[in-house]
Amino acid sequence: GALAVAAARTRNGAHARNGGRPCAAVLGEPLPAALDDGLGLLVHPSADFAAGALVSSTQQYREMYQRSIDDPAGFWSEIAEEFYWKHKWNPDEVCSENLDVTKGAIKIEWFKGGKTNICYNAVDRNVEAGNGDKIAMYWEGNEPSDDGKLTYSELLDKVCQLANYLKSVGVGKGDAVVIYLPMLMELPIAMLACARIGAVHSVVFAGFSADALAQRIIDCKPKVVITCNAVKRGLKTIPLKDIVDTSLAESAKNGADVGICLTYENQSALSKVDTRWKPGRDVWWQDVVPNFPTKCDVEWVDAEDPLFLLYTSGSTGKPKGVLHTTGGYMVYSATTFKHAFDYKPTDIYWCTADCGWITGHSYVTYGPLLNGATVLVFEGAPNYPDPGRCWDIVDKYGVTIFYTAPTLIRSLMRDGTEYVSRHSRKSLRVLGSVGEPINPTAWRWFYDVIGDSRCPISDTWWQTETGGFMITPLPGAWPQKPGSATFPFFGVQPVIVDEKGWELEGECSGYLCIKKSWPGAFRTLYGDKDRYETTYFKPFAGYYFSGDGCRRDKDGYHWLTGRVDDVINVSGHRIGTAEVESALVSHPKCAEAAVVGIDHEVKGQGIYAFVTLVDGVPYSDDLRKSLIMTVRSQIGAFAAPDKIHWAPGLPKTRSGKIMRRILRKIASRQLDELGDTSTLAEPGVVDQLIALSDS
Ligand code: WT7
Repeated sequence: GALAVAAARTRNGAHARNGGRPCAAVLGEPLPAALDDGLGLLVHPSADFAAGALVSSTQQYREMYQRSIDDPAGFWSEIAEEFYWKHKWNPDEVCSENLDVTKGAIKIEWFKGGKTNICYNAVDRNVEAGNGDKIAMYWEGNEPSDDGKLTYSELLDKVCQLANYLKSVGVGKGDAVVIYLPMLMELPIAMLACARIGAVHSVVFAGFSADALAQRIIDCKPKVVITCNAVKRGLKTIPLKDIVDTSLAESAKNGADVGICLTYENQSALSKVDTRWKPGRDVWWQDVVPNFPTKCDVEWVDAEDPLFLLYTSGSTGKPKGVLHTTGGYMVYSATTFKHAFDYKPTDIYWCTADCGWITGHSYVTYGPLLNGATVLVFEGAPNYPDPGRCWDIVDKYGVTIFYTAPTLIRSLMRDGTEYVSRHSRKSLRVLGSVGEPINPTAWRWFYDVIGDSRCPISDTWWQTETGGFMITPLPGAWPQKPGSATFPFFGVQPVIVDEKGWELEGECSGYLCIKKSWPGAFRTLYGDKDRYETTYFKPFAGYYFSGDGCRRDKDGYHWLTGRVDDVINVSGHRIGTAEVESALVSHPKCAEAAVVGIDHEVKGQGIYAFVTLVDGVPYSDDLRKSLIMTVRSQIGAFAAPDKIHWAPGLPKTRSGKIMRRILRKIASRQLDELGDTSTLAEPGVVDQLIALSDS
């Protein structure tokens, strides 16, 4: 219902539907100097900033963009040349693709025939270039007094030792390794060690519950799980190893018997003696890994060999294993990082995302290290010991690029500016935002208060599936409009289509799709090619469908308007309504559940659950709590419903389909906008639900 499709469209011309034209419309008209849509003045980068930027004018952007569209093979080959390839790709196969399901199986391949290794390019190559003594990673622990650092040479040693250990226990090319770690340096180290030996890592965010972890382990059957005994976040201690124990027991019963659980001892959180242990399976990292040599040969892999699997939510209950491969992802994550943040070798870069999400893959680990950057890894919570922690860290390390999520900005905004202004923040030069649309008010606060009206903001729109930025400002090139992700990255052709799949032109809004592939695109859903094609390529033949709505304004700026499928975005975390529903209905007293997203001041969206109880079970607050607990234990605390709304019945069509449109209106109390309820099987349920709204 959120989609209002505007008028200006090209319906009939043969070229209108994915005709392969370069999308002139996205480049926009020449910019007006004055007001945009009434949301604020255009915000220009300072003349100094633009002068020193990699791309320093709209003109330069347009030229580079145009070339990337006219000659993608040439454009991306030149960039790929900057990396080390054991064997070069076949020049005729820089990109081979079919994005049209009506013409056969979907296929996306980049740099076919090339052999490389992303760990080698992210670590060894920097050491060999003479940057072995440069800091690769700073680490800031939960307690402000806890910190550490690694140079590129030290990082290489650590990665090699772990890679050698993994090889010694039989992990080889193509084997899966699940990583369930908090933000210790060992997390990126573990990712890189897998990549070095051609193993496929699957990082599971350490906020996921035992059940959710087990589900992923059962799907990808890793040889080894890497975890740590516990982690402290703020004042809370989370016993990760206990969670893993539960998952491994569950996995073993379901055909995934993991032989080794490599456990890092996180001394600051829990002592060794207090950690549950299963001899034979469990191994302390510190007992074995340091004994291995600090040299480890690289496994050269094909450009299209898998690099990692990352599970994400979709519109059914089962998480999707998004599979990324090596060559294209390497080139894309590195290039997007460099341009969207206008990276300079002197930068100190901090991304607050966890490596358990795609942002941590592409923009904590791979993108920055492939550029030889210095990355800050932060274990703690942004409001511990107080809401000034982020700026304390920015000053401590001299952070120059700060990349975070709107939800964090909004929550810090509520805590007040005094926590910000007492810190200098003068090192900052570029800010970034990701995860959900950033509302103009939060944008302005980020810009004016955090960045002292000095630092451009890169509002990066992308997805787990896209591997890297798709629509993003290049901070020196474009004047910004607060709340707009602006223009496509090089090589990306966004199109906005109506519900029939016709491309809309000029000022318009509709479904955001991408025409043509880009190097960082995911290649499949692990073990489920059908779901891959059905979810992403069948809704609009010829295009990749993002699942997002988007508006393009008269100047060609893109405004993301949120998901149009059954996925909700809570604090930048993607949660499938069906996953929450299936957790709820597993509760013995729950007969049926329907979950919708509602606006939430800090989290962006909150989770609102309508629950029908088994006949005769009375409503109670204890039952509410127990339902919420069930979701926490099946998915994780971040997916806990904000509200349980008792529902004697749910609004359904005569064919039994739940009408979420109506539930969304009831949840957000827009009762005068319920629309047509005459097609409901039992129109009376709506009144019942409204009557129970405030119970
Ligand atoms: C969904 C992807 C990609 C990193 C984090 C989330 C939303 C992401 C933006 C943005 C508006 C955004 C979209 C997208 N989203 N960034 N800058 N502006 N919306 O990755 O879990 O794969 O979620 O997050 O709805 O589809 P993800």
